[in-house]
Amino acid sequence: MTTLLRVDASIRVDGSVSRALADSAEAVWRSEHPDGVVVRRDLGRHPIPADVWPSVIAGKLGLPTPDDSDRADYADAKALADEITNEFVSADAVLVAVPLYNWGVSQHVKTWIDLLLTVGELQTAGLVAGKPIILTLARGGGYGEGAPKHGWDHSTPYLERIFRDALQMDLRTAVAELTLAPVSPGMESLIDASKVSEAEAHVAAKEHAAVVARQFTSAAA
Ligand SMILES: Cc1cc2nc3c(=O)[nH]c(=O)nc-3n(C[C@H](O)[C@H](O)[C@H](O)COP(=O)(O)O)c2cc1C
Repeated sequence: MTTLLRVDASIRVDGSVSRALADSAEAVWRSEHPDGVVVRRDLGRHPIPADVWPSVIAGKLGLPTPDDSDRADYADAKALADEITNEFVSADAVLVAVPLYNWGVSQHVKTWIDLLLTVGELQTAGLVAGKPIILTLARGGGYGEGAPKHGWDHSTPYLERIFRDALQMDLRTAVAELTLAPVSPGMESLIDASKVSEAEAHVAAKEHAAVVARQFTSAAA
């Protein structure tokens, strides 16, 4: 039985473009693997408490807990880190939907990644090397060559660095840009481009999911 881990990070549900793109990818995955399992982790609706990571690291390093510390209990924090890592390692493929917030990777996504990286073997033993991962990304603005804020999207390069370079995963991305155009005064001239970008991102998300899903179909045949 195949398992897809789906992680969502948008703080909204209705109208979320990154979630809609992930829905497109998930639908294709499910059509290829109707008996498969989709494990969900919703960081947007259920953020991981920010005090968990300091507790795990301090415990691993054997740092004394200050009397006035607000850190999470170490055993609880370690159990959550293990749960998060286990679902990541045991999935056949991973689908992560991430919005751009404040030109960077948001705290709740960073916390999830930091907890994954508490398990050093993810890198040193290549525990997820070659595992397929699809990112569905949504950005309110445009950051392509020639755009005034070209280079301001610090989230995408970070995610690529972690999943493709550090963890050596098989990374594919589907990106919708200019998602704020339909609702932001001054961006009216970009509405058509935003619709094109979103439509193309859905196509890419579905194509990526088909390629990834079929790897496991043929492996099982
Ligand atoms: C708090 C906040 C900060 C945002 N910061 C940025 C930003 O720095 N750059 C950008 O292009 N869009 C920014 N946006 C717009 C989102 O990237 C855009 O609405 C995207 O579609 C959100 O993902 P979603 O549609 O999956 O919810 C921001 C939105 C919010 C709510």
